[in-house]
Amino acid sequence: MKGQVLKLLREHNTTFLSGEKMSQVIGCSRTAIWKHIDALRKEGYDIVASQNKGYQLRETYPMLSEHEILSYLPNDSLFTNVIFYRSINSTQMAAQKQVSDGMTHGTLVVADEQTNGKGRLGRTWHSEKDSGVWMSLIVKPDIAFEQAPQLTLLTAVSVTRAIEKLSKVNVTIKWPNDLLINGKKVCGILTEMQADTDRLLSVIIGIGLNVNHKQFSDPLTDIATSLFIETGKTYDRSQLIGGILDEFTKLYQLYLDDGFAIIKPLWEAHASSTGKKISARTATTVIEGIALGIDNEGVLLLEDEAGKVHKIYSADIDL
Ligand code: BTN
Repeated sequence: MKGQVLKLLREHNTTFLSGEKMSQVIGCSRTAIWKHIDALRKEGYDIVASQNKGYQLRETYPMLSEHEILSYLPNDSLFTNVIFYRSINSTQMAAQKQVSDGMTHGTLVVADEQTNGKGRLGRTWHSEKDSGVWMSLIVKPDIAFEQAPQLTLLTAVSVTRAIEKLSKVNVTIKWPNDLLINGKKVCGILTEMQADTDRLLSVIIGIGLNVNHKQFSDPLTDIATSLFIETGKTYDRSQLIGGILDEFTKLYQLYLDDGFAIIKPLWEAHASSTGKKISARTATTVIEGIALGIDNEGVLLLEDEAGKVHKIYSADIDL
């Protein structure tokens, strides 16, 4: 019912709405309305009250909360269990704790702020409050251990499609996990897996998407961007999360049914590096050459000057 109160206030946010009117529309007492307004305020919603006129929602930015996220989840969503934090060190770490506590498939961990966000290769992921989508998905696919990185590519396609649908900007994917707009990074994906000797137990897919950032400070200014910077619009992050999970749910099912072959062309349609000269920094060496694309397993193929084709399983790519 709190969601209904919020929805009503949002639909009438240019005017005041009386408690009586709301109680009639929703079909509950005015005391119940008051309680929900109080709860929404405690969550951080700026709801002003005028004695004769009622309530008005002042939205400085779209709030992120568990019930907002739940209200945007598709009906057939793979993710039915949402764990929301106003602030946490890292959703990735919280998801790991969930996994060790026995929570696995279909759990979504989201935070409004991360105080110790993790990027790939031990880097820090800047995740200030009110501005981004910081979330980790827990899934338990019945696939081989070596196939887990394919989920990074599947996720990249899901996020790309969701952004493009909502914002109409063109997003490209830099193998394996960077989403770029106009050459700057808007989203990163961190896939971590839990396995015993020969079995994949679960996969945690961390998604960091820069949404409503007005600017970045050095050293990120030249390399990072946000949906706001690219389009001049503020986005409802819960809606974006719903869109991403909708795309993910569909692609994940296709992937389980038909394998990576169905994801490959979707990924290729957005690839930023295919046919270009790139440099791949692996754990042990740097290989330069032309990116040929990915193979049927999602592995990057890189042809060096001597014509030798290298299979790149994990690397940092410079375009
Ligand atoms: C990268 O280095 O590009 C990957 C960044 C992944 C960041 C996300 S934000 C949500 C989740 N929690 C984390 O601590 N990291 C991932």
